[in-house]
Amino acid sequence: MMTSLSGTPLSPLTFGTMQFGGRADAAESRAMFDAARAAGITHFDTAYVYTEGASETLLGEMAQKDREGLIIATKAAYNGGSGRDNILTGFATSQQRLQMDMVDILYLHRFDDDTPLQETFDALATLKHEGRIRHIGVSNFAAWQVMKAQAVAAQFDVRIDIIQPMHSLVKRQSEVEIFPMAVDQGIEIAPYSPLGGGLLTGKYASGGTGRLTEDSRYAARYNVDWMRDAAVKLTALASDLGTSPATLAVAWAMAHPARPRPIISARSAEQLAPSLAALDFDMTADLYEQITGFSVTPPPATDRIEEA
Ligand SMILES: NC(=O)c1ccc[n+]([C@@H]2O[C@H](COP(=O)([O-])OP(=O)(O)OC[C@H]3O[C@@H](n4cnc5c(N)ncnc54)[C@H](OP(=O)(O)O)[C@@H]3O)[C@@H](O)[C@H]2O)c1
Repeated sequence: MMTSLSGTPLSPLTFGTMQFGGRADAAESRAMFDAARAAGITHFDTAYVYTEGASETLLGEMAQKDREGLIIATKAAYNGGSGRDNILTGFATSQQRLQMDMVDILYLHRFDDDTPLQETFDALATLKHEGRIRHIGVSNFAAWQVMKAQAVAAQFDVRIDIIQPMHSLVKRQSEVEIFPMAVDQGIEIAPYSPLGGGLLTGKYASGGTGRLTEDSRYAARYNVDWMRDAAVKLTALASDLGTSPATLAVAWAMAHPARPRPIISARSAEQLAPSLAALDFDMTADLYEQITGFSVTPPPATDRIEEA
């Protein structure tokens, strides 16, 4: 089981600080951190590449208090490849910004086709053996890439303990191979974007604005009719139940049998509240099934579908 230095377990939800120092100023970032802590969140996610370092710097300041009760994750090598120098130089900068001699989790931010995994895991093993990280994670890896990397990691006496794939009601590819692999291998899952970047708050159907109208990458990622339809259905159901679509979306993501620990985030404490409310939401099996029916269940990883 993954715990903080003082033995606190990973919370059922993770808090992501990608907006810290960007869409959320220092005061809003602090308000969200405090709300997340008050709700019992122990696991916080950042990355070298977020908001040009402001995310790591702000999180580092906030995490000083009760540092040993928290699990802090950052990520390396989004740009520049997973070569040894890029990982070690980038991580040294992350440590400075975070003001941490030890960071609990270091993820590779994405798979690098061009660098031998031996070089990458030699560098990660160096950090682990020096006590500068406690766990290795990988993000945006396919299942086969995780397993290939895990075999290489073993050569250096380390292992991948956590993965960070995308997952929400409208992005379900990870259910096919990634989640079952993680369960089988005893790897923790901290999936990102449980609200589909904000789509599943339902705000766009009523003419609202936000990341999907401001960021072309996210606009393209969610510019699909059936995804918008799913958000409308979720919003109608939330209205019937007297809750928020964001609460339903996060509670649904948490309820997958693989027991992922979704990474929630927002630009203000007010926005964050319905996502945090998922912690207390009673997601029954019937409701889970109903919500699951709002999107396409991805086909299994075999064409012998009559046997699946
Ligand atoms: N490994 C990776 O490659 C990767 C990629 C993405 C994220 N992540 C991690 O996962 C975390 C969460 O990802 P995410 O931000 O994409 O999660 P998300 O939950 O899908 O989207 C959060 C966004 O939805 C909007 N939103 C949230 N609550 C709202 C509300 N009540 N009303 C209206 N809009 C609301 C806000 O954006 P607007 O107000 O701007 O619309 C907010 O920033 C990140 O902080 C980061 O730590 C990792």
